[in-house]
Amino acid sequence: MSKKKIGFAQFEPKVGEVLVNLSAVRRLAAEAKGADLLVFPELATSGYELMDPDEVRVFAEPKQGGATHETLLDLAKANNCSYVIGYPEVEGDKFYNSSMLVNPDGSTYNYRKIHLFSREKELFNSGDAPPAVYETKAGRVGMMICFDWIFPETARMIALQGAQILAHPSNLVLQWCQRSMFARSVENRLFTITSNRIGSEERVGRRLTFTGASQVVTPVGETVSKAPETEEFIGLADIDPSDADNKDVTEYNHLFEDRMTGLYGSLV
Ligand code: ACM
Repeated sequence: MSKKKIGFAQFEPKVGEVLVNLSAVRRLAAEAKGADLLVFPELATSGYELMDPDEVRVFAEPKQGGATHETLLDLAKANNCSYVIGYPEVEGDKFYNSSMLVNPDGSTYNYRKIHLFSREKELFNSGDAPPAVYETKAGRVGMMICFDWIFPETARMIALQGAQILAHPSNLVLQWCQRSMFARSVENRLFTITSNRIGSEERVGRRLTFTGASQVVTPVGETVSKAPETEEFIGLADIDPSDADNKDVTEYNHLFEDRMTGLYGSLV
């Protein structure tokens, strides 16, 4: 397969300012022209610290047909690029911390964060379906969102479905994720794009500072793009997605065929 340009757009979403944030998305997408796959942070349209479900309702969008989906449809077609972005989703009377993937041909896919972090449990429902894998301009992509990283089963489910790239919109506040994504990359032999946000928010009696340092890591653990911790940054890397198809760790060890699943019963 030919080379593909993949990466992230790290920025500071403003809480409650959906239109301002979508105009930042447009600006960053234009700056990242030439990308085949660009990942934006978690809850990039709404900001993170929403007060309560009533406030989520104000900023939540359906998975198709809302302002975020319309914006990405335009951008994907105009820039011939696949995009992933985190946003608050509404379906009926339920809210989800979701991400959407939009391709240049308009095909659109949705993922609902499974493992909610901290106060998110007061705002959102947990995702009700396992992550899936989709064709994009840059190869086969699966999505997980932020705190899903600490449950290695999430990335493993994505890898076992043949993903070449794991798109990981994030609003990270703990210190360990970026280093841990090295492990998610090598233990699954796929590319990972962690797209984190910057800045801080103080709305519900606590200050959250987001850690930036977005990154692209290869199937053999090389960090091929890395953002600073506090500044807006577009990080792109030229990769061959088919590098993720080789699951041979040594000539004796195949990452998937060597799994001893008969002994893994206690995991579930
Ligand atoms: C997180 O899942 N936003 C830490």
